[in-house]
Amino acid sequence: MTKISTAAELLHGEPWQQRISTDLAQRGWSVCDNHFSPLLLARLAEESERLWRRGAFRRAGVGRGGELRLRPEIRTDQVLWLDPADCTVVQKRYLHALEQLRLAINRDLLLGLFEFEGHLAVYPPGSYYRRHLDQFKGVGSRTVSCILYLNREWQAEDGGQLRIYTHPDDPAYCEEILPVGGRLVTFLSARFLHEVLPARRERWSITGWFKRRDDYL
Ligand code: OGA
Ligand code: MN
Repeated sequence: MTKISTAAELLHGEPWQQRISTDLAQRGWSVCDNHFSPLLLARLAEESERLWRRGAFRRAGVGRGGELRLRPEIRTDQVLWLDPADCTVVQKRYLHALEQLRLAINRDLLLGLFEFEGHLAVYPPGSYYRRHLDQFKGVGSRTVSCILYLNREWQAEDGGQLRIYTHPDDPAYCEEILPVGGRLVTFLSARFLHEVLPARRERWSITGWFKRRDDYL
């Protein structure tokens, strides 16, 4: 990882984690490309695909705990939760990079983020996730959403854009982000409604959240 962030520093004049935390402070969301090596991305994608073909993924639900329900009218992706105690070497490298990002965000934005939870996700052709917020009702612990895309050669006609609504009251204001491989999207979970438009190809990502304690002020 050290080598990767050094390259990113040369490219952008500042470490990638720093750029993301500055974007979050200034406008609340960030898109960062090419900060992970093609080899790391290829391995993450290969492993995810292998696990998927082996049947390890589950249809994703909406809500949490006892309230978790399958709601195919809202989302039709499939997920496999990452277990930090039992993950592969390449998944660990990605989690390690996210740990550096967590520390940078805490230093700059004083958000008190204390852990990450995340899953591999696949959107089979035709799948979507309708407009939603990443925070559960009345629970504030998911604070920063973070998605890394693992798709090779994704084109606009493949669909699957992440649409972020950048104005709280006017849906005409939005950004559409293509899920191209190596792209890392980060945003403040409580602030932005967003959706995944129907994908025409299998769409791969690692999606997760930096959390803070529910009683953090
Ligand atoms: C989610 C989500 C966005 C994406 O899983 O909550 O909004 O681009 N994912 O995959
Ligand atoms: Mn979401």
